[in-house]
Amino acid sequence: MSPSYAHITGWGMAVPDKILTNHDLAKMVDTSDEWIVSRTGIHERRIARADQSTASLAAEAGLRALQVANLHPGELDMIIVSTSSPEYIFPATACLVQDRIGAGKASAFDLLAACTGFVYAINLGAQAIKSSAVKNVLVIGSETLSRLVNWKDRNTCILFGDGAGAFVIQASEEPGGVLSAVLRSDGSGGDLLSVPGGGSRHPASMQSLYDGLHYIQMNGREVFRFATRVMVEATQQTIESANLTMDDIQLVIPHQANQRIIEAAARGLDYPMDKVMVNLDRFGNTSTASIPIATVEAIEQNRLKPGDNVVMVAFGSGLTWGATLIQWSGPLPYRRKVSPRKVQWFARTRSLLARLRRRIEGILWGRE
Ligand code: COA
Repeated sequence: MSPSYAHITGWGMAVPDKILTNHDLAKMVDTSDEWIVSRTGIHERRIARADQSTASLAAEAGLRALQVANLHPGELDMIIVSTSSPEYIFPATACLVQDRIGAGKASAFDLLAACTGFVYAINLGAQAIKSSAVKNVLVIGSETLSRLVNWKDRNTCILFGDGAGAFVIQASEEPGGVLSAVLRSDGSGGDLLSVPGGGSRHPASMQSLYDGLHYIQMNGREVFRFATRVMVEATQQTIESANLTMDDIQLVIPHQANQRIIEAAARGLDYPMDKVMVNLDRFGNTSTASIPIATVEAIEQNRLKPGDNVVMVAFGSGLTWGATLIQWSGPLPYRRKVSPRKVQWFARTRSLLARLRRRIEGILWGRE
């Protein structure tokens, strides 16, 4: 069997239209535009409308990625949705996406590695392809963290934003694509960044609501120190394991958490900031969605081209961190244009009919 390489062949992003600026936040909590910009680099972030959710943003980003890859949703073998703000505790948000986009033969599951999740998901999808188990994988990072933020807590509410980004990963015999990855964790720091309520440790109750356990809790200073250390380490390790050096890297796309963390990492790597993608000023920290969103913008700005070596590096709750080195590709050659969006009508009808069939079966069995 010829070796399979895992190429990124499609990409897409979906962010809500609604913008929340630092000036808006200064009317809600005791903060200022000047403080937020100087400590984080963030000017504004996007906030989901009431009718938008992690699954709807994920599905939109996924469809856009399929459009770029020119891949029919029915061809997908696997959908991984990385998220820390899932639609529900279960079912998995990935299953809702599978139904929405009409990916009839795909497995679907969520991955929770917080802001590092997209790097984990890329590697998982790529490994499944390299083992020849699957050919076409959709990985999505999607968040509506605005639903988990305490809008009275100035330590956290200034940081986060909503959005989604997606990659299509496909098998090809052409060398390139995902070259290496390093994934790490340290659960001893789990309490530094968490949402403690609503799970099995602190089930939702009047008391858990009263104590605010359903909100994001964070020790900002500790997370900051951890982040600056691991971003450098993980980048170096993934480059070394591909037998390359920083000189071979055309672009670094870091998790968009804080301008100061990114600059400290670039200094630590002795790497010029003009080869580091930053767009957190307009989106804030969208957690696992930040890397695919930044990637889409890098491509639009012509900063990432086929053949380039790009490192994506992230850190987050868990604690988790990781990096992946990708030789950038682009859509695989194709004979005819497909339109993933055109099958949406069929997907909705199929979903409706499946629900109807279950209801009828339920009634019939109930009579027996
Ligand atoms: N506006 C104004 N003042 C604020 C503030 C805000 N939004 N948030 C905190 N402050 C105050 C603090 O109360 C503190 O006041 P004090 O000295 O009187 O106690 C002061 O500013 C400094 O707080 P500190 O926490 O030391 O600030 P900092 O320079 O570490 O910046 C963060 C705070 C949160 C921006 C920074 O620690 C950070 O970005 N950490 C990483 C967080 C992160 O990336 N999380 C997501 C990981 S995926």
